[in-house]
Amino acid sequence: MVKQKAQFICQACGNVTSKWAGRCDGCGEWNSIVEEQVNSGVGSGPKSVTASGRPIELVSLTGATDDAQRITTGISELDRVTGGGFVVGSASLVGGDPGIGKSTLLLQAAAALAAKGHNVVYISGEEAIAQVRLRASRLGVEHTPVQLASETHVETILATLESAGKPDLVILDSIQTLWTDRIDSAPGTVTQVRTSAQAMTRFAKKSGAAVVLVGHVTKDGQIAGPRVVEHMVDAVLYFEGEGGHNFRILRGVKNRYGATDEIGVFEMAHMGLREVANPSALFLDQRDKEATGSAVFAGMEGTRPVLVEIQALVSPSPLGTPRRAVVGWDNARLSMVLAVLETHCGVRIGANDIYLNVAGGLKISEPAADLAVAAALVSSLTNAPLPADAVYFGEVSLSGGIRPVSHAGTRLKEAQKLGFSIAHTAELKDVDKGLSMNLGTHKQLADLVAQIASK
Ligand code: TYD
Ligand code: MG
Repeated sequence: MVKQKAQFICQACGNVTSKWAGRCDGCGEWNSIVEEQVNSGVGSGPKSVTASGRPIELVSLTGATDDAQRITTGISELDRVTGGGFVVGSASLVGGDPGIGKSTLLLQAAAALAAKGHNVVYISGEEAIAQVRLRASRLGVEHTPVQLASETHVETILATLESAGKPDLVILDSIQTLWTDRIDSAPGTVTQVRTSAQAMTRFAKKSGAAVVLVGHVTKDGQIAGPRVVEHMVDAVLYFEGEGGHNFRILRGVKNRYGATDEIGVFEMAHMGLREVANPSALFLDQRDKEATGSAVFAGMEGTRPVLVEIQALVSPSPLGTPRRAVVGWDNARLSMVLAVLETHCGVRIGANDIYLNVAGGLKISEPAADLAVAAALVSSLTNAPLPADAVYFGEVSLSGGIRPVSHAGTRLKEAQKLGFSIAHTAELKDVDKGLSMNLGTHKQLADLVAQIASK
């Protein structure tokens, strides 16, 4: 019999302590520490272990499967993010806020795969079978042979999966509802989530099924409890969206079998999630072309160019410490761009309140957006609208120079395709001669600023 030992575990970060405290030492969260029973390992005793295999020479594997075997859903926005489909024998975690559409996405994926003849099992711990069926009929997929189960007990789930034939894909919705009787803690606690996830990951490796775990995320962007699961699984995908918008963005943050910088864009409609093949058109759809403080950034998300509108509002501040509010971009980079504008371009902007927003709820992490941000800021400050058919991209250096960024050709092509005719960027070397765009190349940010202000 394995002995159980009490431990105090922070439900936010998984930090383990020997006694209870009001505040976690690890992450600083209040009231997040819960007593849990953990297998101490004592009592299981050292058993005699016999070798069950021997190491294999790497070279002898040459010619074996060179590529991970994948099951493609045919939902190309999803397949793009997973790197070409779910990998056989892998475990993935799909995280996101409650109500963002995780169950909808995965039910659609399950139905698509089942319709292609794969054996798909969808296990819901949150909804009864009738509710899942109701959702399926809303999505128009109620006639697909997806195997449904409503269960939360891990051992029962494993037994159910044994009897389900050899499943290709198993979806567990959600990891927070799972519990195993090997431990005493309540469902949803870190130990339960971790142990259940471990059991399901082991099942994936053993059976060769692709296992997808669904996890709810807390407001601050952490997967509640299952943060610890991120290390165990092969891929972590986040499903995000901005309140008030119908777009949903699926983003890979970890992928052992592919790139992590790809995004998939969906639109939530009344018949479920619709793929958005051309996100730029969607993000620019509601742009007011005459507005000041609006610049179009030609960005890249993974291998795909995405054009988005960057909006800035610069207004005189009544406060001693002016306000800075940024949505969709990095606060520190905004401060940097402001400092460069002040120091190298003679733009007196620092004493104003500054608001910056990436339209459409997209989050940009590329330094290439510096130039578009600078253009939007100067446009708002000087009350001069930017040309409606211009795009901006380039990294601004601390010395006030503009540096070229990767994939310039792809960005330009996308901009041209969407009807833009001018691109302001750094000096580029090899640009496709077939391009009919007007290039406004600048060495210094000050050049561009003077050009905008002179309008
Ligand atoms: P859901 O997939 O249940 O979210 P999660 O599993 O991430 O908690 O999505 C629920 C939301 O999606 C709900 O607010 C209703 C909306 N929705 C639609 O707008 N259209 C649809 O066809 C479906 C199925 C859901
Ligand atoms: Mg759900």
